[in-house]
Amino acid sequence: MQLSKTEEEIDLLRLNNDLVSRTLAEVAKIIRPGITTLELDKRAEEFIRDNGAEPGFLGYNGYPNTLCISVNDAVVHGIPSGYQLKEGDIVSVDCGTFMHGYYGDSAYTFPVGEVAPEVQRLMEVTKRSLELGIEKALDGLRVGDVSYAVQQCAEANGFSVVRELVGHGLGRKMHERPEVPNYGYKNRGPKLVEGMVICIEPMVNMGAKEIYQERDGWTIRTRDGKPSAHFELAVVVRKGKAETLSTFKYIDEVLKVK
Ligand code: MF3
Ligand code: CO
Repeated sequence: MQLSKTEEEIDLLRLNNDLVSRTLAEVAKIIRPGITTLELDKRAEEFIRDNGAEPGFLGYNGYPNTLCISVNDAVVHGIPSGYQLKEGDIVSVDCGTFMHGYYGDSAYTFPVGEVAPEVQRLMEVTKRSLELGIEKALDGLRVGDVSYAVQQCAEANGFSVVRELVGHGLGRKMHERPEVPNYGYKNRGPKLVEGMVICIEPMVNMGAKEIYQERDGWTIRTRDGKPSAHFELAVVVRKGKAETLSTFKYIDEVLKVK
């Protein structure tokens, strides 16, 4: 089974994932204590539509919004609401787009104002684990090499990795093969081949790895109530060095001057 994309398909995935990246930067501009998660969602939807795309998550398996916004002990799939962000919160914002028949999908965890040092470290380690995973998205390696790199980084820093939710291939569907777990063993799992497009998305908990789903049918939370961080980028498997289709550079530019 051929999982690689053509360069024409990758061009369309690049357009989508660049838009997702710029949408997350729009959210970065307005995120502050007092703003509601629904206001962030509205801004993202407007920006995506202004740029000729559709929100990729809206209506996906009945999902009701543009963003998944997961605060503190919420791991992923939090539904935007009237909740007002407050100083010290951490907020995973996950965004999808759809245009020209392909999807974009990325996520970033933002601090709201000053956060506790240990929470800051959780975010940094989670982002670092994603970067280390991306370094293994190379032709000739296996999915397990990516998974191992992510898990190793998270656990060596005293944190735990969520098992039930995984990264994935990205294309005409938001979730394609292969699954990309954030835990695993070197040299195991599907072979990575030039042109495969995968989303790597570590979900790292400060406490124990166990999670539960809220009664809203979506929100995933840590069992122990401790915070969790989540970062996601879409990358192309290449020879020598993975190519990132989404990027945090627009967010970095916004946060630098904020
Ligand atoms: N962004 C999520 C992922 O990476 C998907 C969200 S699905 C939705 O897999 F239904 F919540 F939108
Ligand atoms: Co994803």
